[in-house]
Amino acid sequence: MKPKVLVTREVFDEVLEYLSQYFEVTSNQSDIPFDPGTLSDKLSDKEGAVITLSDRIDAALLSHCPNLKAVCNIAVGYNNIDLEACTKTKVIATNTPGVLDDTTGDFTWTLILATARRLTEAEAYLRAGQWDGWKLKQFLGLDVHHATLGIFGLGRIGQVVARRAIGFEMKVLYHDVRRATPEIEQACRASFVNKDELLAQADIVTIHVPYSSATHHLIGKQELEQMKPTAILINASRGGVVDDFALIEALRKGTIAGAGLDVFENEPTLNPGFLELKNVVLAPHIASSSKATRFNMAMLASKNLVAALTGEKPPNLLNPF
Ligand code: 8YV
Repeated sequence: MKPKVLVTREVFDEVLEYLSQYFEVTSNQSDIPFDPGTLSDKLSDKEGAVITLSDRIDAALLSHCPNLKAVCNIAVGYNNIDLEACTKTKVIATNTPGVLDDTTGDFTWTLILATARRLTEAEAYLRAGQWDGWKLKQFLGLDVHHATLGIFGLGRIGQVVARRAIGFEMKVLYHDVRRATPEIEQACRASFVNKDELLAQADIVTIHVPYSSATHHLIGKQELEQMKPTAILINASRGGVVDDFALIEALRKGTIAGAGLDVFENEPTLNPGFLELKNVVLAPHIASSSKATRFNMAMLASKNLVAALTGEKPPNLLNPF
């Protein structure tokens, strides 16, 4: 008999076909996220699961799932998984690092350019039929080339973003809990600075840190006030790293010039304040969403599950086993 596994959201057919070679697969192709009670019921007789950021795996759920041996996230970020609780109950947890770095880096640049050059604001104006002719001072934006880019978190994705900045001949500053190696700094042409220096000097601040209690509200009222009034803030990491309420206030008051956001606190519920602002570019958590990358992420999560349930070490094991 094949082990029973659950795929909690819609995935590509090829991924289900791959998993079906090894497992009896139940999949949620209707793609409506399970509430915590339903998720725990669905997992109660399963040995493994391919999950996403909308599935919370915690001690309460694990206590209802005695057969569960592995949860494999289709995401590099894993703040939806209580890793300590998984480790205590010997449940293997995995993520999908690496395969989404370039795609997420590209989308960060989409947000940087769209925000700096006020693209969504200009397009909304055009679509509303308000354009009555060329004007010298129309939608004046911020130059990206030769500007100073400040990167919080020079991990895999932060490095991709930094390397793309070379083409724009930018000055690149970064801050991280750990300083990068001289080789990485050289390849990224990035200089390490403290948090205060980064905030004060950057024209564009972009965030590439994981979400945890240590990074909760890394950017709040005080940090926004430290930024230049002409600067923009970009977040394609996780909601909660930025204090959305403080950001809305800062964008309203002109404390900073704009923001480009792919992630939000309490997503998919959006603070309605964002919708009233013109100086913010909004995206529904799609930074990794190219066809190739989302396929690779789902496939990698599935390969992790196959390894975990066939006694191999999964390529992206998170627990300290
Ligand atoms: C995912 C992400 O699409 O990998 C991550 O951490 O934020 C995105 O690339 C999302 O988390 C789906 O689970």
